Amino acid sequence: MNDKDLAPMDRRGLLKAAGAAGLMLATGAYAADAGARKRYAVVGVGSRARMYTRAITGKYRDRAEVVGVCDRNAGRAALAVKRIAETGAGQPVAYAAADFDRMLRDTKPQFVIVTTTDASHDEYIVRALDAGCDVITEKPMTTTAEKAQRILDAVKRSGRHIRVCFNYRYSPPRTQVKDLLMSGEIGDVLSVDFTWLLNTVHGADYFRRWHSNKANSGGLMVHKATHHFDLVNWWLGAQPERVQAAGSRQFYTPETARRMGLQGAHERCLTCTEKAKCSFYFDLAADPGLKELYLDNEKHDGYFRDQCVWRPEISIEDTMTVMVRYDNGVQLNYGLQAYDAWEGYRIAFNGTKGRLEHSIVEAAGMAGANAVQSRSDTVSTRIIPLRGAPREIKPWTGEGNHGGGDDVMLEEIFGEAPADKYRRVSDERAGAYSCLVGIAANRCFESGTTVRIADLVTGLTPPLRAPMPDRGAPIAMPLKLKMP
Ligand SMILES: NC(=O)c1ccc[n+]([C@@H]2O[C@H](COP(=O)([O-])OP(=O)(O)OC[C@H]3O[C@@H](n4cnc5c(N)ncnc54)[C@H](O)[C@@H]3O)[C@@H](O)[C@H]2O)c1
Repeated sequence: MNDKDLAPMDRRGLLKAAGAAGLMLATGAYAADAGARKRYAVVGVGSRARMYTRAITGKYRDRAEVVGVCDRNAGRAALAVKRIAETGAGQPVAYAAADFDRMLRDTKPQFVIVTTTDASHDEYIVRALDAGCDVITEKPMTTTAEKAQRILDAVKRSGRHIRVCFNYRYSPPRTQVKDLLMSGEIGDVLSVDFTWLLNTVHGADYFRRWHSNKANSGGLMVHKATHHFDLVNWWLGAQPERVQAAGSRQFYTPETARRMGLQGAHERCLTCTEKAKCSFYFDLAADPGLKELYLDNEKHDGYFRDQCVWRPEISIEDTMTVMVRYDNGVQLNYGLQAYDAWEGYRIAFNGTKGRLEHSIVEAAGMAGANAVQSRSDTVSTRIIPLRGAPREIKPWTGEGNHGGGDDVMLEEIFGEAPADKYRRVSDERAGAYSCLVGIAANRCFESGTTVRIADLVTGLTPPLRAPMPDRGAPIAMPLKLKMP
């Protein structure tokens, strides 16, 4: 079953789910406690929302509180309230999706955290801005050019602010790459070669979930590559201008299932008659956290978190190649596959004084038929000058999710992070420049022609960027060459 046609949760469903969870749900005004804690409402309380609610109810409980949660799935909304209440750091009110505006009126949040499916971000961002709230939204900011325009217009109209949470920028080794580029050691960057690999554990998961319907996610060009395009935009301190791309679905197809000795596609893993034979079988019931969040709440919206990865109706690509031309002349060559033997990426920046190579192996291999991946996080960074010996760079390290980036970003959002010379905070402009590259690539997939970012939206101006080396600076190079 596909979740694009699901009806929003109604109020009766919410109360029923709350009753089943043994919860008291407030229906009226929020009784604010004394103190100056910032007030947050969260819409879309699935997996990702927990990072924010855990931070608010944990490390930052003296500074922040969750006053309302909203979800179209009554069970997940009730579960979020229960989990937050169990921390002792507040008792938010749960609202049905149809009651989002009422939540804003009742609970009076200063900030709305948007962690719904990608295609619905714009709906909540615009309504929150128009209600006078600032917005913290997950990536991608949105999935189509029309929706991006709505958001840009709403920011101008409301005068409120958006933070798009590009957590990848905050991972220490990636911040270090920014630091090296800012230092000017490789001179002006002229071209970039970037390949991202998703393996058959994490990569395959996109084909099981709501992401597999392009209407929900914008495909991997938007959902996933928004991280990567944002990184390049930020690393270069430049704006993408023109995009050419090709994309197709080559691996996650009924034909691949048959090549693997299966009869073909099924609806989902839970009820699959060939689960014993399929090395992509995913046991949703085996993980208590996933079971509680998704399997136990299917009755509310019919969303299956373990849809068959071989379904013919999947509408996203698994093989993508993109060329981007930047406003400073840089050419980016980018590739993404979702069925690779390891997970991670390789990037090379070719500059006027040398080359910066950087790679991370996030998951090296897999063990067992149920595809358990071993975490690796092996980082390699080196600089190879045009003249002189290569220099291995000792990587900056961090602890926690997404290479340690999540915690650094959370400190900036909720804590007291010092001024950031890398300007990692992203607003709607950075959010737009990133997702518009993927949106342009999606258009290229259909038309085969070049797409200009300026033709997709109006009124988009460059975001504030950290200072990069002066492109006009003279290049110092020894006169006598020493060949290796
Ligand atoms: N930055 C990162 O590294 C990162 C990692 C994971 C997810 N994300 C982003 O977080 C967001 C959520 O992803 P997830 O993995 O938590 O998905 P999820 O399926 O676990 O959660 C989404 C939640 O939103 C609810 N929802 C969906 N449409 C809704 C609507 N129209 N109105 C109200 N509620 C709605 C669902 O019922 C669900 O509870 C996505 O935008 C995703 O791209 C970011």
